[in-house]
Amino acid sequence: MRVDVVTIFPDYLAALDLSLVGKARKAGLLDLRVHDLRDWTTDRHRTVDDTPFGGGAGMVMRPDVWGRALDDVLGSADDDAPGHLVVPTPSGEVFTQRHAEALAGEEHVVVACGRYEGIDARVVDRARAAGHRVSEFSIGDYVLNGGEVAALVMIEAFGRLLPGVVGNPHSLVEESHGAAGLLEYPVYTKPPAWEGLDVPDVLLSGHHARIERWRRDQALARTAARRPDMIAALDVAGLDKADLTV
Ligand code: ADE
Repeated sequence: MRVDVVTIFPDYLAALDLSLVGKARKAGLLDLRVHDLRDWTTDRHRTVDDTPFGGGAGMVMRPDVWGRALDDVLGSADDDAPGHLVVPTPSGEVFTQRHAEALAGEEHVVVACGRYEGIDARVVDRARAAGHRVSEFSIGDYVLNGGEVAALVMIEAFGRLLPGVVGNPHSLVEESHGAAGLLEYPVYTKPPAWEGLDVPDVLLSGHHARIERWRRDQALARTAARRPDMIAALDVAGLDKADLTV
């Protein structure tokens, strides 16, 4: 998979050299390229922004600079692997595990990181009109200073889903926001007793069916307490009788 990130702060993305995503890059599973938007400026001051038409606070990123950058990085919608443009923005659709799964299936994703009050709206309109798929995503209901941290979040979320990146693919199945639609159950490791706190007996019992039941009960109780919206969205057909007594 190829991922291009365009930003005025390329150093922000240095964290993508680390951890699992870094390994995926070194293993050739992820071809990640970070570009400095200012490389597409034409003036002496390398200007990327200007004041908003209609007035108001802050600055808006110029469409001409972004247009040249995306012409080079996104390519044409007729290419063999046309780029899917992802724009992090607090006014986007909320990014979820389902979006991460969909992006992990793409051949080429281009992340356009805006700063200030955002990118001139014509940039996204033009990419769509040219036939590109465009997704504007928010990583949550709060405002960051720019799209870079959101880009890191999204790239890590879909990068770890690429085949071969996570050593044990089974660990992707049971985690929070996985197929069960529940938060993950609590986990424990050695020592079994620590500062007067014991690991629940059932996990030391070796009784596989009871452990499974306990974990599911914990996941249901946790989800009900913390994320009632996820309980409301559960498919009733996927519940068993024991679930209903939790
Ligand atoms: N840029 C600024 N805030 C953001 C957010 N919450 N999500 C994505 N991009 C952003």
